[in-house]
Amino acid sequence: MQFIDLKAQYAALRESIQVRMNAVLEHGQYIMGPEVAEMEAALAARVGVDHCISVASGTEALLIALMALDIGPGDEVITTPFTFAASAETIVLAGATPVFVDIEPDTCNIDAALIEAAITPRTRAIMPVSLYGQVADMAAINAIAAQHGLAVIEDAAQSFGATYQGRPSCGLSTFGATSFFPSKPLGCYGDGGALFTNDAALAQAAREIRVHGQSKRYHHSRIGVGGRMDTLQCAVVLAKLERFDWEIERRLALGDRYHQLLADLSLRRLVVRPDRDCVWAQYTVFVEQRAAVQAALQAAGIPTAIHYPIPLHHQPAYARFAPQEACPHAVRAAAQVLSLPMSADLSEADQDRIVAALRQAL
Ligand SMILES: Cc1ncc(COP(=O)(O)O)c(C=O)c1O
Repeated sequence: MQFIDLKAQYAALRESIQVRMNAVLEHGQYIMGPEVAEMEAALAARVGVDHCISVASGTEALLIALMALDIGPGDEVITTPFTFAASAETIVLAGATPVFVDIEPDTCNIDAALIEAAITPRTRAIMPVSLYGQVADMAAINAIAAQHGLAVIEDAAQSFGATYQGRPSCGLSTFGATSFFPSKPLGCYGDGGALFTNDAALAQAAREIRVHGQSKRYHHSRIGVGGRMDTLQCAVVLAKLERFDWEIERRLALGDRYHQLLADLSLRRLVVRPDRDCVWAQYTVFVEQRAAVQAALQAAGIPTAIHYPIPLHHQPAYARFAPQEACPHAVRAAAQVLSLPMSADLSEADQDRIVAALRQAL
C-alpha cells in the first residue's frame, strides 16, 4: 500500500499527461511557454481571483509574497510553529522575524483568539497555515488584520481545493500561496507553486520578483529571485485539473469515511469546523502511544507519516524566536499526530484494512 498513491493517478491520466508534455517538447518553450499562462488563467478562475502567478515552489510563493509586500528587517510576521519549516523559513529569509502563536488543539491551525496579543508596532503580516487541508479561522484573522493594517498571507500549500464559508482557499486574503509538490492535493511532477491575489500592484510586484526583479528584460526595478515554474510542470498541472473536481470529492468522502470508521476508537480525530471543509492533504489523527502504534501499523504493511514531529520553536534554527515552553498545544500535537494513507485513489477496501490494523494496534 502506498502512503499517497500517485501511480494510480498517473495510470488514470496517462494519456492526457503525455499529450500535454509532448506538446511542450514539440514547441520547445520550456521557460514561460504558453502552458504557463494557460495554467495561471485556469487556476485564477477556479480560485475566483484576478491574478495567479506561478512560481518555482510553495516555498518560493511564500518568499515572493513577503518580498512583494516589502517585508524585511525590523518587521514581524505572525505564524504558527506547527507547520512545515517553509512557513517560518521564508519569513527569516526575507529578513523579518517570525512570531509564533499557538494552535487550536482540535484543528491544529493558528488560534485566532491569541493573535491580537502577539501584535506589536513591528507586526506587518499574519501568515496562517491551512494545515492538513483545512483553512484557519480566516474571517477572524482578516478582521484583526484590517483593524491593525496588516497583510494576510495564507500558506495554502496543503489546502488547494478546500473551501471556507463557500469560498476557495487561496482567494481569502491579501495573498494565497500554494504548492504543487507531487504529494499535495494538486501536484505536478517536480517542484511548483502559485500565488493568488486580487491586488494588481502586488501581482505585478510578484511577477517581477519571480524573474529577478525585472520590469522588462535586463531592467531590474527591484531585487528578485529566479522563481519561475517551468512549462512542463504547468502542463502536468493542466492535465491533472481534468479530474481534480472528482479527486476533491473523493478526498472529502474518504475523510468522512475515516471519521465514521474511527468514531468508536479511543483516539482523538481532527475537528473540521462546520463552515469549511478539509481536503485532507494528510488524514491525521492523534495517538498517545504513537511510536508503538506506528510500529504495529508498519508491521501490518500500512505506511504512516508524522506531520510534524517537532514544533518549529523546538528546532535549533528557530529556537531563538520563542521560549521552549511557548505554544504548548503545538508541542502536544507534535508528540501525538499520526497521518494515515490518503489520496483520491485510496480504495475503500484498503481504507477498511487501515482502520482494522489501527483498531488492532490500539
Ligand atoms: C505548510 C507548507 N508550507 C510550505 C510548503 C512548501 O512547499 P514546497 O515544498 O512546494 O516548497 C509545504 C510543502 O512542502 C507545506 O506543507
